[in-house]
Amino acid sequence: MIKKPSPAYALSLCLLGCGLVASAAHAADSDWKRGRIYYRQVCTACHTAELKKPIAPNDRTQAEWAAYLKADKHGKGKDTVKHYFSSQYRDSIKAKNAAAAKYANLPEKDLIEDVRAFLHKSAKDGDSPAGCS
Ligand code: HEC
Repeated sequence: MIKKPSPAYALSLCLLGCGLVASAAHAADSDWKRGRIYYRQVCTACHTAELKKPIAPNDRTQAEWAAYLKADKHGKGKDTVKHYFSSQYRDSIKAKNAAAAKYANLPEKDLIEDVRAFLHKSAKDGDSPAGCS
């Protein structure tokens, strides 16, 4: 005899399904390609200039990037990561930086989500780990 799944099981499957749909919709809202452009042209450009080497997305895991962005302490707490997404910062470099000029009017939170999506995808354990960007 085939055992019918219990209602609790069916409910948990449904909740799981809804969760996946919600997170897929959330991911689709952010634009990892835009995030990649910003990360490469703004974040990496400065790391390469000042540190003499890029900070590769695949240096860290998805969880490490998520924690880093959440903590919002850049340069061991000397400033914030948000600062480098702010419209003031973009304004201050846009004359010399094409990505900052291109995204000058984008809301800060959209830009953060885009870079977050790029780092998630390109992390050590992401879908397509990215080395030197
Ligand atoms: C104007 C230059 C500059 C820009 C722009 C910049 N960084 Fe940095 N970043 C640095 C320097 C310098 C360090 C090393 C700081 C230290 O070790 O004291 C650093 C360090 C880091 C580190 C290593 C951990 C830490 O915080 O020390 C990460 C991760 C990082 N930056 C992420 C980013 C991201 C993401 C962006 C873009 C949104 C960004 N940075 C933009 C200069 C910059």
